[in-house]
Amino acid sequence: MSLHGQLLLAVESSCDETGIAVIADGRRILSNVVASQTALHAASGGIVPEVAARAHLRWIVPVLDQALADAGATVDDVDAVAVTYGPGLAGSLLVGINFAKTLAWVHDKPLVGVNHLEGHLYAAWLRDIGQEDGPDPIFPLVALIVSGGHTFLVEMADHLTYRLLGQTVDDAAGEAFDKVGRLLGLPYPGGPAISAAAEGATAATRFPRARTAGPYDFSFSGLKTAVLREVAGYRDRGAPIPIDGLAAAFEEAVVDALATKTVAAADEYAVAAVAIGGGVAANQSLRTALRQRLDALGLPLLVPPPAWCTDNGAMIGAAAGFRFLAGDRASPALEAIPNLSLAWSEG
Ligand code: KG4
Ligand code: ZN
Repeated sequence: MSLHGQLLLAVESSCDETGIAVIADGRRILSNVVASQTALHAASGGIVPEVAARAHLRWIVPVLDQALADAGATVDDVDAVAVTYGPGLAGSLLVGINFAKTLAWVHDKPLVGVNHLEGHLYAAWLRDIGQEDGPDPIFPLVALIVSGGHTFLVEMADHLTYRLLGQTVDDAAGEAFDKVGRLLGLPYPGGPAISAAAEGATAATRFPRARTAGPYDFSFSGLKTAVLREVAGYRDRGAPIPIDGLAAAFEEAVVDALATKTVAAADEYAVAAVAIGGGVAANQSLRTALRQRLDALGLPLLVPPPAWCTDNGAMIGAAAGFRFLAGDRASPALEAIPNLSLAWSEG
């Protein structure tokens, strides 16, 4: 069996995007439909789990219909049905898992359970249908995963094997963006809002970079507190708060921390490439900073287009391709594991 000729249907519902994709050959996107709940959660300034689960239920059938129509495929055409089983919100995960289980059972297809974090990693070499050139996985590589719930650096010597080099000791990078966005009065989610406010602005200050015990660990809670203090200072003085300038200073500090440690790890472990994934990898400043610093070392950066950095079904299909090939099959008893971690060995 090889990835060539393989056709998978992949379902993602771990957080606030309902995503279903049809993926060929382990990485070619035949369709990738995402129903985002961002507008729904903007009103409350964050995700309400119950609301998220209900929205998945509302949208999952229309998203499947659209994904099959776009791909010109039926469920009977695919080799397997893949689904995210963690980490994520329990209620949201359950909608996708039960949906995928039912599809697999009715159509007599194998079921493949996928770790959401592995999906973010495997998005790095996805390709659009018809796209001949594109990034290939080159091993060994260092991968930075930066999402709303996770921030870690791993070394991959080969497919599906991970050695942990470092991780956040407090907030995830995306969580820091979201919290600071709220603090600056910007709309939810904070990541894109801060990025837009920072564009073209001059940093209002220079926030300190955190020191961590592990060389490749990250810490963002001190930075969040520093922004809070800065905002309070302006308030106390009755001065207008330079939202854009503070957004720029915050983004600069986060990007610097992420890029500095990722590049240092790539250098120390003498890898052949660097991959990044997760919602924060959509950040243009981070992409530019990493590309510039890695260019200087002659290392390629494997990074998905912004739309494939945030949650989607295609990334789950990309990881599922290799899992399926490796013989991974989920039982009909597959359960949601909200705190699932990537199976890594300690660095
Ligand atoms: O990977 P993702 O879609 O969901 C999780 O698995 O968490 O990541 C969502 C996170 C949010 O915290 C959001 O603010 C952040 O990614 N994000 C960004 C950008 N776009 C999304 N952060 C910084 N800059 C962006 N352009
Ligand atoms: Zn995610």
